[in-house]
Amino acid sequence: MTPTIDDHAARFDAKATAYDDSERPVYAACASLVIAAADPGPEDVVLDLGTGTGAIALALADTAARVVGRDISEGMLEQAMSKAAGRDNVSFGIGRFRDPAYEGPADIVVSNYALHHLDDDEKREAITRISAYDPRRFVLGDLMFFDGYPTTDPEHDPAVDDPATVGALVTMLTDAGFIITDVSPVTDQAGVIVAERR
Ligand SMILES: C[S@@+](CC[C@H](N)C(=O)[O-])C[C@H]1O[C@@H](n2cnc3c(N)ncnc32)[C@H](O)[C@@H]1O
Repeated sequence: MTPTIDDHAARFDAKATAYDDSERPVYAACASLVIAAADPGPEDVVLDLGTGTGAIALALADTAARVVGRDISEGMLEQAMSKAAGRDNVSFGIGRFRDPAYEGPADIVVSNYALHHLDDDEKREAITRISAYDPRRFVLGDLMFFDGYPTTDPEHDPAVDDPATVGALVTMLTDAGFIITDVSPVTDQAGVIVAERR
């Protein structure tokens, strides 16, 4: 059965305290690329969707004016908030891709290793919602298939993950009014897409 949002939230609640300790080289490579490509300036507000324990949000808060992180897992958000203690330009709260519960500006939107929890119709809705913020840049790091549909990957669990092909993601992004300025494969099953406004 396809996991629901509540299933995903419960799964991440359960692993939140150990999440930062797990060794995942493909994830780590995607995270580094997302942080580098987002490249916020001192005036920029960044929205990080599926922020988890805030790894990307906190790194970007070093240079951005403000970073807002949203996630469905209270456990993951508790970790993020604890790591953000004493920092006044980063905030975290409950929100989902298709309803981020954030109405402010977003100059740059980022998401790393989270969108693949949605099916392709939901991904399209999420990208349409992201586009409505009118960000100048959206950086998406995630599981994504570059070459067919592989069946095994130690960092990919088909029971809970539903990655799209790169082609499908590019179509969703361009349909939402973005142009694709970079696609960086990390493996044939993961990579980073940079989408910008025309
Ligand atoms: C693998 S973690 C990645 C966390 C973080 N982006 C990072 O790079 O470390 C995926 C996160 O996506 C969140 N997530 C899953 N489905 C979501 C949804 N529909 N909306 C928002 N967050 C979601 C999970 O709760 C989890 O914290």
